[in-house]
Amino acid sequence: MSKKSLLLGVDVSTTGVKALLINETGNLIGSATTQLNLSTPFPLWSEQSPDEWWSGAVKSIRQVLAQTMVKGTEIGALGLTGQMHGLVLLDANNTVLRPAILWNDQRTGDECDEINRKVGFERLLKITGNRALTGFTAPKILWVRNHEPQIFTQTAHILLPKDYVRFRLSGDYAVDKADASGMLLLDHKARDWSEELLGILDIPLAWMPKTYEGTEVTGYIHAQAAEETGLSAGIPIVAGGGDQAAQAVGVGAVSPGVVALTLGTSGVIFTTIDGPHIEQQGRMHAFCHSVPGAWHFMGVMLSAAGSLQWYRDTHAPDTPFDELLAPCQDIPQGAEGLFFLPYLTGERTPYPDPLARAGFVGLTIRHSRDHMTRAVLEGVAFGMRDVMELIRQTGSVQVQQVRFSGGGAKSPLWHQILSDVLNTELFTVNTTEGAAYGAALLAGTGIGIWQSIQEACQATIHVTSQITPNTDAVERYASAYQIFHELYPILKPTFEKISRI
Ligand code: XUL
Repeated sequence: MSKKSLLLGVDVSTTGVKALLINETGNLIGSATTQLNLSTPFPLWSEQSPDEWWSGAVKSIRQVLAQTMVKGTEIGALGLTGQMHGLVLLDANNTVLRPAILWNDQRTGDECDEINRKVGFERLLKITGNRALTGFTAPKILWVRNHEPQIFTQTAHILLPKDYVRFRLSGDYAVDKADASGMLLLDHKARDWSEELLGILDIPLAWMPKTYEGTEVTGYIHAQAAEETGLSAGIPIVAGGGDQAAQAVGVGAVSPGVVALTLGTSGVIFTTIDGPHIEQQGRMHAFCHSVPGAWHFMGVMLSAAGSLQWYRDTHAPDTPFDELLAPCQDIPQGAEGLFFLPYLTGERTPYPDPLARAGFVGLTIRHSRDHMTRAVLEGVAFGMRDVMELIRQTGSVQVQQVRFSGGGAKSPLWHQILSDVLNTELFTVNTTEGAAYGAALLAGTGIGIWQSIQEACQATIHVTSQITPNTDAVERYASAYQIFHELYPILKPTFEKISRI
């Protein structure tokens, strides 16, 4: 193997920082993850320390180099990915001004109203392709201005989570266009900051990082970062992408028709589109892809595998997931009339509602814990169907193949339930390393190992299995789904009342 042919992908996720090494044929050489802490100082708040991202990145990079015995000099490029939408504020000396406010923080309802008032719903949708959501970055910036003016006035730079790590690696203020889309300040068609929007919201353009396509080089590792990480100074850093765009690259969802369905903490359906289309009510996120010049639609359900995790931790702590799921194989489809609404952390798609709540509906004395477990798996699948229906309704997407990945894809039972509920074949691929793998492919394309992202994916990713819907189950689930779909609109006014308690 030639010198400098290895690729490093770094993923700054909410749960940990992962560093992954692949070679120029896409084979995994090694990976290391450092866990991260999450702070929820008040209800609806979710924060992390940017310094912990950096120390986590240093630790994971050092660890993967040590365990694979790879030298910094053998690495050709580094690509970055990470949790989207989080707000990092730096002062003019590059000091972090407060903990980062994360994607799953729900404190900014009033600021979303403020954006709608100042910009107007239609205009916002036209410029950014999206509606104002509590998870996005712009309302977080306004929240800091409204609630912590002493911090706001010291601000000199705004960054997203992985781009803070980029800053520590190379000293550059840079972001890829996919992640930038989730800030709600990007002109979706022009693929750059909207000066009109920044003007209306009174956010200085000078605070914003420079935007790059996913495969462009944003800078080079500087001497101090080289010393800390064990990497060599001068290694190019490629823009990469927000976690969902990089995840899509990592499973080969890089051209229209190939859909990525990811069942992680959140549940995501992601599809490449051939232009800057929007969903007329802004219920689907419409973002730039990390594939240069491409866009994508995305629906995000906030608690997917997160629902099962919560359920296990509260109802069967310490039980391995396999053990928990095994007996619910024998429970009939539809869990004998028991439904689970998966809105444990509010919802985004198709219901942009931070006040939505989770619940079991239809419990009888006959229902056992195994019925409840099955209802959780099915409730998440019904929520994903809500997202899929919305994608189909946009009319901009011809779904040809759905590629299934994420922690939830490890369960054959959940795989079959999803295939039956969505009435679609679900394919898995050989790459299971997620967004970090996509970031490494973006890095390799950035330095010319592959001529395009499509070529990178063709060279490295192939289908390994396929699950086909079972006709009887499809019919049974079609009627159960109709009932599930009626529940949120009926309960919405009640959720609002509950939130006032
Ligand atoms: C995407 C989103 C999440 C976060 C955390 O819009 O909010 O995927 O990026 O993973």
